Amino acid sequence: MVDFSMMKNGILLKLSQYSKILITGANGQLGYDFRRLLDSIGANYIATGHKELDITQKDRVSDFVKSMGFDLIINCAAYNDVDKAEDDVENCFKLNAYAPHDLAKVAKELKATFITYSTDFVFDGNKNAPYTENDKPNPLSTYGKSKLEGENLVLEEYDRSIVIRTSWLFGINNKNFNTQVLNWAKNNKELKIVDDQVSSPTYSFDLALFSLLLLEKKVFGLFHFSNDGVASKYDQAFYLLNKIGWDGVIHRGKTSEFNLKAPRPSFSKLDSSKIESIMGIKIPTWQSGIDRWWEEFNAV
Ligand SMILES: NC(=O)c1ccc[n+]([C@@H]2O[C@H](COP(=O)([O-])OP(=O)(O)OC[C@H]3O[C@@H](n4cnc5c(N)ncnc54)[C@H](OP(=O)(O)O)[C@@H]3O)[C@@H](O)[C@H]2O)c1
Repeated sequence: MVDFSMMKNGILLKLSQYSKILITGANGQLGYDFRRLLDSIGANYIATGHKELDITQKDRVSDFVKSMGFDLIINCAAYNDVDKAEDDVENCFKLNAYAPHDLAKVAKELKATFITYSTDFVFDGNKNAPYTENDKPNPLSTYGKSKLEGENLVLEEYDRSIVIRTSWLFGINNKNFNTQVLNWAKNNKELKIVDDQVSSPTYSFDLALFSLLLLEKKVFGLFHFSNDGVASKYDQAFYLLNKIGWDGVIHRGKTSEFNLKAPRPSFSKLDSSKIESIMGIKIPTWQSGIDRWWEEFNAV
């Protein structure tokens, strides 16, 4: 296996089979990392944010995509507010299920490749071992249900689609659990973070890079991708705060103490061995992801 740490931005990437690429939801965490990777290889792409292209506007999207003749569509747009979704079911399904389905339909008409993203929250957490692509989903929340519906609609619609499930994303270009922890730490001397939600924090740069490498392989279907290793929210916060030399105290808490609207799986680590074996590349650990994120976060 190739040692991932030896790879620099984009050096193994060519992506020469795609000449016109669309990124939707391009101002989010993952969209930002696609943009910088595609910039690094001089790829021809158009990045659209929510304002330029609302992916729930089916006709507008269809007209735009067809008029531009894209051969690769990367959908990074999503409804990610897990708690809000419990009271906003319709909008959540529109964005996470029906809009990706419509994008897959347009991609099919153009014979373009389509890639979109799902979540570890499609699982209920009862397996207590890493979930593979063959495990049966059983989402607990509206967000998880909407994402599962999106997966099914896309994969049934078009066989040149890729759906990648990922977990606990953190990137440079949006709020995430790391930035939340840093804000809490700035204003408090003691924090309580839950240790009964376990998965794997995942750096959006690594997800974008592996997505592009997977696109070069011309394989389609469902894949899992999360950074290597397992962590609770407590572990993630502890690692980050220890790294930056925070002098406060961090206590272990339980999810039940926090009155969250949406239920979450207690264990939703994704087994990413399928993608690793196709690529022949070991996925970096979540700690390495946080180290690199921290460096870049401070540089921007
Ligand atoms: N974040 C996580 O922890 C996590 C975990 C598992 C899976 N995922 C999945 O991974 C993918 C990437 O997530 P991310 O963290 O990069 O998301 P993100 O940072 O929240 O970005 C999502 C983007 O979608 C845009 N958007 C919202 N509604 C839109 C619409 N109707 N049309 C077009 N764009 C719209 C948002 O723009 P505005 O802000 O302007 O509305 C935002 O820039 C998503 O599919 C997500 O569900 C994320």
